[in-house]
Amino acid sequence: MSDPGDGSVDELVGLAWRAREGAYAPYSHFTVGAAIRASGGGVFMGANVENASYSVAICAERVAAAAAVAAGVRDLEVVAVTSSAPSPVSPCGVCRQFLFEFNPDMTVISEGTAGERKTWHLRDLLVDGFGPENLEGQT
Ligand code: THU
Repeated sequence: MSDPGDGSVDELVGLAWRAREGAYAPYSHFTVGAAIRASGGGVFMGANVENASYSVAICAERVAAAAAVAAGVRDLEVVAVTSSAPSPVSPCGVCRQFLFEFNPDMTVISEGTAGERKTWHLRDLLVDGFGPENLEGQT
């Protein structure tokens, strides 16, 4: 998505910053927020949630995407990510796969605390990704 110039990208990034306030990251101290806009206009937010059993942690992007899907919304169009790092972070491999399921052409925007913003298409972050169509035709 190119920036439509109507402030909607700024607004979504702002919501990702707000979502980050809900992060539970007592182990890494790395806090992440995500806000996903669906094509119908709905926005779903998430933050990373860690656990004393470290590997159980879930990333902000998956919390936000799961909230959308659980609400019956699957047409995920844009995800904004913010974190406590100065530079923009890109979603981890697991999140790339999780998001790819719902829209390989999703726009991914990330902003760091220093204000730099990066934008990608999910397809470019997960080249030749595995999706639902790869399972078609199985008996
Ligand atoms: N994390 C996210 O929430 N999203 C990312 O894109 C990268 C990593 C979280 C997982 C963990 O709670 C912490 O950041 C450190 O890896």
